[in-house]
Amino acid sequence: MSKSDVLLGLQWGDEGKGKIVDVLTPEYDIIARFQGGPNAGHTLEFNGIKHVLHTIPSGIFHPTAQNIVGNGVVIDPVIFKKEIDALLKLGVDVKTKLLISKRAHLILPTHRLIDAASEASKGKNKIGSTLKGIGPTYMDKTGRNGLRIGDIETKDFKEKYNTLVEKHKQILSFYNYEYNLQELEPAWFESIEALKSLQFIESEHFLNNALASGKKILAEGAQGSLLDIDFGSYPFVTSSNTVCSGACSGLGIAPNRIGNVIGIFKAYCTRVGSGPFPTELNDETGEKIRQIGREFGSTTGRARRTGWLDLPALKYAIMINGVTELMMMKADVLSDFDTLKVCTHYNYNGQVIDFLPYDIDTRYLTPIYQEVKGWNCDLTKITKKEEMPQALADYVKYIENAVKTPITIVSIGPDRTQTIKL
Ligand code: GDP
Ligand code: IMO
Ligand code: MG
Repeated sequence: MSKSDVLLGLQWGDEGKGKIVDVLTPEYDIIARFQGGPNAGHTLEFNGIKHVLHTIPSGIFHPTAQNIVGNGVVIDPVIFKKEIDALLKLGVDVKTKLLISKRAHLILPTHRLIDAASEASKGKNKIGSTLKGIGPTYMDKTGRNGLRIGDIETKDFKEKYNTLVEKHKQILSFYNYEYNLQELEPAWFESIEALKSLQFIESEHFLNNALASGKKILAEGAQGSLLDIDFGSYPFVTSSNTVCSGACSGLGIAPNRIGNVIGIFKAYCTRVGSGPFPTELNDETGEKIRQIGREFGSTTGRARRTGWLDLPALKYAIMINGVTELMMMKADVLSDFDTLKVCTHYNYNGQVIDFLPYDIDTRYLTPIYQEVKGWNCDLTKITKKEEMPQALADYVKYIENAVKTPITIVSIGPDRTQTIKL
């Protein structure tokens, strides 16, 4: 009986999970997404191709791996169909390599409308949602009203759909929100038909049988730990458990079947959408990181907020997830700095603390920084760890010591090959 490894983001998302899953896929038989939905945008680059995946696992480009969309994921058929069509064009054999859990919930057009209506009603307190209908879909899941992939195959699917839509219409009238559902429904139902060409499975059986026969599974997370519904900066979070336990509930894999927990983080921090961000840089340094790092959302195109690395937040994410190894992304983006800053502690209501507290509102919590030497040289041509500049090797050691967890990969560019194994 083998174990499933889990790969997840330790910050506010967009750490580079897609790139690393693609790099690691040759070591695995199965790649399985466990939560989130098309709010995610996972970017892969290889052979000059840049591809962004939203719902489909990032192992899809490797000929050998089976890719599973787990029960914890929420699926928008329209976006899903677009993803499939793009992959078919690239010659990917989606029909045999992609399997979908019957227990995964469906995002309806009205979920997206409610997301937009809810955000509009919040005004300046809006979450900054990706407007993909994620929150309303998970609300219907926990409210026990949702529609699932398995429902598509039942005779009364349309009836179930209509019942849910009637409920949504009442919510939309509460918000006084104007919409035209007739414009949205045809594409949704066409996409549902297209989904039927894929295999719907009982993925918990599939995955546990795979483990029993010694197959290797990598569970792919979406978003990041600081966007987790329980442990993130609530209410400025997403609506699922992005942390490691989400892989258990989102795939049906028992906690004692989890092996390595791989935590991905950027050498600095970014956040897209609203909510507190202690180390945010609202100055030209922040702008420089945004431009060099091309920090614009993969899903929405929005400019990402940028800031220095936050060690108390990183330690918190390592603790909640039980991270066994770290991978540091986008080191190349910091190549043009003489010195870097790292947040080691916070000043929290007049007290110096070294952990992430309940409330990270920056009116009460300010970062305390330590300066470290930058490497100030181009990293993108480096191929092995021996070629790393000393200052980068020191930065890696410094973080490892601070968070007491080994860093096993340093990423120095978006391409598959720009990956240094330590
Ligand atoms: P994900 O959501 O965690 O998969 O990350 P995204 O794909 O949303 O955002 C990461 C962005 O950084 C993408 O545009 C990647 O192509 C890019 N990227 C990944 N790793 C590196 C790296 O080491 N250096 C640079 N410069 N870009 C990277
Ligand atoms: P990946 O998987 C970065 C953010 C949104 C918003 C909040 C809630 O690419 O790392 P939602 O649409 O989920 O209701 O939005 O969460 N968010 C992400 N930020 N990367 C993501 O995914 C995100 N998915 C959601 O910007 O602040
Ligand atoms: Mg992303």
